[in-house]
Parts: sequence; C-alpha cells; structure tokens
Amino acid sequence: MPESISHELLRLLAAMKAGGRRVAWLSDANRNLLRNPRAAMRPPAGPPDATMSRTGMTADSSATTAMPTARLAPVMPAAGFTPPPPAANTPPVPAPPAVPASVRFSPASQEPPAAPLAPLAPLDLAATDWTALEGLCAACKRCELCRTRHHVVFGQGQRNARLMFIGEGPGHDEDMQGLPFVGAAGQLLTKMIAAMGLDRLSEDPAQGVYIANIVKCRPPHNRNPEQREADACLPYLRRQIELVKPEAIVLLGAVPLQYLLGITGITKTRGQWLNYGDIPVMPTFHPALILRFSNSPQLERENKLKVWDDLQKVMALLKLPLPPPRKQ
Ligand code: URA
Repeated sequence: MPESISHELLRLLAAMKAGGRRVAWLSDANRNLLRNPRAAMRPPAGPPDATMSRTGMTADSSATTAMPTARLAPVMPAAGFTPPPPAANTPPVPAPPAVPASVRFSPASQEPPAAPLAPLAPLDLAATDWTALEGLCAACKRCELCRTRHHVVFGQGQRNARLMFIGEGPGHDEDMQGLPFVGAAGQLLTKMIAAMGLDRLSEDPAQGVYIANIVKCRPPHNRNPEQREADACLPYLRRQIELVKPEAIVLLGAVPLQYLLGITGITKTRGQWLNYGDIPVMPTFHPALILRFSNSPQLERENKLKVWDDLQKVMALLKLPLPPPRKQ
C-alpha cells in the first residue's frame, strides 16, 4: 500500500533520528520518491538505479511530508553507521586497522586527515644561541598546536633582563601578533611592570624584562596547555631561561607553576619564594584572574593587592625602589 510504504520510510527516518542520526543516505529512487510522489507512481522506465547518491537528507527534513507511492528502495545508512552483520555464507570482512586519533577523518570539517606527528624526541638545546633557538621554535612541529597556530610566540623583551615573567601560552591576540601578553591581560601586565618601576619595552637590562610562556603556540579556544604540549615546548623555555639568566622569575598563574615546577595550587602557593635551579621564583596570580573579577570591585581589589604584595617582594629582592607603604 502506498501510504504504508511512505509511513514505513518515515518511520525508518524517525527511528534513525531518535537514535541520534542526523543524516541518512537515500538511494536516488527513494529521494525522488519523497520529493515527487506523483512521478514515483509511474512505473520505472528501465532497471532500478542502484547508484547511491551522496546527497544527504536530514531526518527532520520537510520533504518527509510527501506521500510516496512507489516501491520502497532500501534506506542506506550514512557513513559511520554500524554495518549490519554479514550473511551466513559471506566470508567475514576483516576489521580495519585502528586509526590513531591524530589522523582520524572528521566528517564535520571534511578536511583530509592530518599526518601524524613524530613521537616526542629529547631536545638538546644546550649549544643553541638566541638565533638558533628562535629558528627552531619557528619551525617546531613537536605537538598538535602547530596545526592551528598563526604565529609561534617565541618571547619578547630584554635578553639580559634581571627579571623574567612566564605565563601560560598565547591567546588569540598573541597568536595573531606573534608577541606575548598583548591582549587585555597583557595590557594589565604591562601596567604591573610599570608599577614596579620597569618598562617591558626598554632595551636597558636594568629597566627591561623578558616575557615568555610555557607553550609558544596558542591552545585552541584558549584552553590550558596539556601535559604533552608543555613537555614538547618546555625545552625551549628552559633554554631561554639559561640564556637570559634572570635574577628572579615571576610565574603568572597556576599553569607555569605546575609545568615549570610541578607544583599545583596557585592560591596557596602565591607570594612564597620558590626556586628554579638557583633562581628565586615568585608565583602570583595571572593578570587574567584580576580581569575576571572586574565586575566585583571588592574581589578585584583584593586580588590586585595580593599580586602587588607579591611583586613588591620581587622588587625588594632586586633592590628596586619601593613605593611608600599603603595607607590602610
Ligand atoms: N596569557 C598568557 O598566559 N600568555 C600570553 O602570552 C597571553 C595571555
């Protein structure tokens, strides 16, 4: 019965939709049948078309309101559907080899699978100077972040500075400009550095600072860098620290604290002197944390004061002139 055939097709589509399928591949015959039920009533002029079209149809397409009347051709599953079990006398098809996640094809993006990256190899940078190091970073493909970056954000500042700041990794603005801390959080960091009596753009080693990050490429959607990404990138940062030889390092937030020193918990650790080798390290809040509370003046002020306390400890260590004590 034509009506029951159309209902059968609609029922199949509805069941697939209920099962989470958004797309069903229809044979040309079924597609025509749903689009044009009158034409579909005419007997076929020749043998049925066995070629499957890749034109998909969503299960909630309005086309399903048509009343098909012709013989129902099989509804073919979309790519990714669980295939039906083989017939009893058909030799079983061997399972395809497992595909690593890094090369899996994404039907959503329709992009070809990316070639897998080489396994992480040890990186001995002991002999590299600034030029060689920057060149290696520019060409780096040690982790997945190289696939989505616009620029490698190597670092910026006075390469003989007394003080080094280390953040998490580039955000959108940094990725576009190839420079660290140039977005909103960066502008606040620039003010914090100025409040210390220093200048992030100065070429004078006594005035300038050096700024770098745990990872040199932007993690997508500004997520935190993952362990593998930090492992891949840290040799570059460690070499930068060796080359700058700062008298002190400020870690901005939980991420550099975790990946550079293996310590978790910025709230309980900030303000306490730690060490990276023989270099004193001061962990403090990331400027983005201060900005996050900008709609709560009380919290914003509290966090600012904590960071300022931490920075004054650094100023004292570096014997920079301290501002007069705050009035309570
Ligand atoms: N946040 C960071 O941690 N680093 C940057 O470079 C910018 C924002």
